[in-house]
This record gives sequence, C-alpha cells and structure tokens, in this order.
Amino acid sequence: VKARFNREVAHAYSQDDPLWLPEYSEALSLLIDSIGANLPQDPRFLDLGAGTGNLSRRLLERFPASHVTLMDFSENMLREARNVLSGFHGRHEVVNQDFLRASFPNSTYHAVVSSFAIHHARGVGEYSDLYRRIRQCLEPKGVFSCCDVVEGGNPHWNRINENGWKDYLSKYFSDEKIEKVFSNYRSEDSPLSLSEHLVCLTEAGFDHVDVLWKKLNFAIYCGNIA
Ligand SMILES: C[S@@+](CC[C@H](N)C(=O)[O-])C[C@H]1O[C@@H](n2cnc3c(N)ncnc32)[C@H](O)[C@@H]1O
Repeated sequence: VKARFNREVAHAYSQDDPLWLPEYSEALSLLIDSIGANLPQDPRFLDLGAGTGNLSRRLLERFPASHVTLMDFSENMLREARNVLSGFHGRHEVVNQDFLRASFPNSTYHAVVSSFAIHHARGVGEYSDLYRRIRQCLEPKGVFSCCDVVEGGNPHWNRINENGWKDYLSKYFSDEKIEKVFSNYRSEDSPLSLSEHLVCLTEAGFDHVDVLWKKLNFAIYCGNIA
C-alpha cells in the first residue's frame, strides 16, 4: 500500500471532488459537521492517512483557530500536503508514520478523523487495536469520525454495493481504468462491515456510535465520548 501511494501522482488526490468516489465533497463536509458539537475555540485534530491534505484543509478552513496533525506513511503524499497547506502557517504538522503501528499521545486531540485510509487495516484485531489507541488519544468529549469504504452486511448486499460503485465509475472512466480501481481495491483493501465497526468502537470505549451517511460501499461512521 505504501509503495503504491509513493508511486501515485499525488495531484490526483488534491482535486476538489475525486471522481472515483460518489459525493466526495458532500461526505467530507458532513464528516466535519459530525465533530462540531463540543469543540473548544482552538481544537486539536489528528487526520489519519491524511494523504495530500484534502480533509485537513477543510478542517483548517472550517475551524479558523484549529491545529491539525496529518499522519501518513507516504512521503510522496505528505510532500504535496505541505504545498496544499502552505497558506495555514503554524496550524499544522506533518508526521510520517504508519497509523497501524504508531503510538498516539494520551488525551491530546478533540477529534480524530480519517477519510478513505483506515480500510487498509487487516482484520477485526487491527481495527480494534487502532480504535483503542484513538480512544485513548482523545480529550474528554472527544470524537472520532471516519468516511471510508465498508463491506456489505452479507455477500448479496456487498455485490449490490460494488455493482453500484462500478455503474457510478462507468460514467467517468474506461473499462480498463475501472478494472485497475477494482484490482487495487481487491488486493489492498479489507474493509469491515458497518456493524463490525460499531461493535469495535463500542468495545474500544466509545459511549455513542453511529452511522451518519451511506452510499453504496461508502459510509461515514463515528463514535464519541460522553
Ligand atoms: C486514498 S488516500 C486518501 C487520502 C486523504 N485522506 C483523502 O481523502 O484524500 C489514502 C492515504 O492513506 C495513507 N495510508 C494508508 N495506510 C496507512 C497507514 N497504515 N499509515 C499511514 N498512512 C496510511 C496512504 O499513504 C494514502 O495517502
């Protein structure tokens, strides 16, 4: 996964609305809405798998006194993130680390967010461990919100979701390109179902968990501390 993101053209991830994801901008905007309830004036955020800073940029714009830590293990992506965020001097830091292995500082962030990155975890064990570390790095009343690809609740529904995504992609891309997207998806991604995410989050100590949005095999799910 790291090797591919180091090869990818980072610019492709900085378009306002990446075409390979349905309702991308709307979803990121809703994710940001989801963390807004109990924030102080100067909130601290952690963006996992921040890539070129698509979500971080939106956070910095929406919360003018916020600070964002961008974590990613691809230097290629982070280099572009530094360009994208150059106008937000002193309000962000870039950390080159694997979020599946990193230790996060205790009780530090008001929100941890992620878009289209956590699905690279493998198996319930890795997700649970990540959610426990996220829970511990949150301040009281902190919130975790994630927009990502998810598995269907059973194989039939999963097929419906994936076929819907294929139909969506066919409006914009050649069969060859769609084949490449699906081949990366099958070899690199191991998403959980929404019900599995909610159980893992609850077991990690989140008091409230929910699904805010779902479109085909994409969803926003979140958890907060009461
Ligand atoms: C599809 S991109 C999404 C980037 C960004 N969040 C966005 O919405 O545009 C996924 C990013 O997650 C990063 N990533 C994947 N697994 C990671 C891991 N275990 N640790 C750190 N970064 C990871 C990749 O390097 C890549 O930049």
